[in-house]
Amino acid sequence: MDAARFPNLHVSQHPLVAHKLALLRDRATEPKKFRELVRELSWLLGYEAMADLTTQPITVETPLEPTAGVELEPKVGLVPVLRAGLGMVDAMLELMPSAEVWHIGLYRDERTLKPVEYYNKLPDAATVQVCLILDPMLATGGSSSATVDILKQWGAARVKQVSLIAAPEGVATLSAAHPDVDIHVAAVDRALNDRGYIVPGLGDAGDRQFGTFAGPSSEPGHDPADETAEVVRRLQRNLASEP
Ligand code: PRP
Ligand code: URA
Repeated sequence: MDAARFPNLHVSQHPLVAHKLALLRDRATEPKKFRELVRELSWLLGYEAMADLTTQPITVETPLEPTAGVELEPKVGLVPVLRAGLGMVDAMLELMPSAEVWHIGLYRDERTLKPVEYYNKLPDAATVQVCLILDPMLATGGSSSATVDILKQWGAARVKQVSLIAAPEGVATLSAAHPDVDIHVAAVDRALNDRGYIVPGLGDAGDRQFGTFAGPSSEPGHDPADETAEVVRRLQRNLASEP
């Protein structure tokens, strides 16, 4: 994809990120190792995503004398999107122990690929200024766009998306809906397939972390592929037609 079209997109260039991502993609990587890699990649991407947080000056007393230091200015909220975003939280909390964690529950309807909200306990008014949405996969962009809508309505002044892998369609959708949201990823892959999965991708990030490979059974006699393929074709037409 032409990354220059998306000034809000930040694809990590760090060799450690690339190395760990290849291990994460490998179908032979079992859930325990997969969870470790999600955590390590989240740490590295989080470090990059927080590089422009503002600071304010403070004075610290060393054992010898006072000196100038800084502290982070904004209050930061980590917003893992259930389920798969859960695996990214601990690493981010290591980086920023005072961050608040606000969970949002969304799943994708397998036919329409639209996000369905099932958990949101945000208080009435925002308690943080900067929110980092944590979700390993930015596929159609529907889940992340919906989460940004929720956070902006809540009153968050600034929102960033941190994902491990994005599809070009998802980057385009999120950027069109929310051009002010920075997107930090380890890689942007080739495309979505006709079931809305990122290819080459890594498969289902939630199932691979939590070992739930059986998945929900489909309705007998219904093949969602036709509907989802049409949704994906529409997203691909949008991506191609944007300037
Ligand atoms: C996955 C993923 C994202 C969403 C991305 O969640 O973790 O939340 O899909 O897709 P989108 O960009 O097309 O919206 P899923 O619905 O599989 O739920 P899970 O995390 O509970 O497995
Ligand atoms: N969700 C995933 O877990 N993987 C994909 O490829 C797309 C959505």
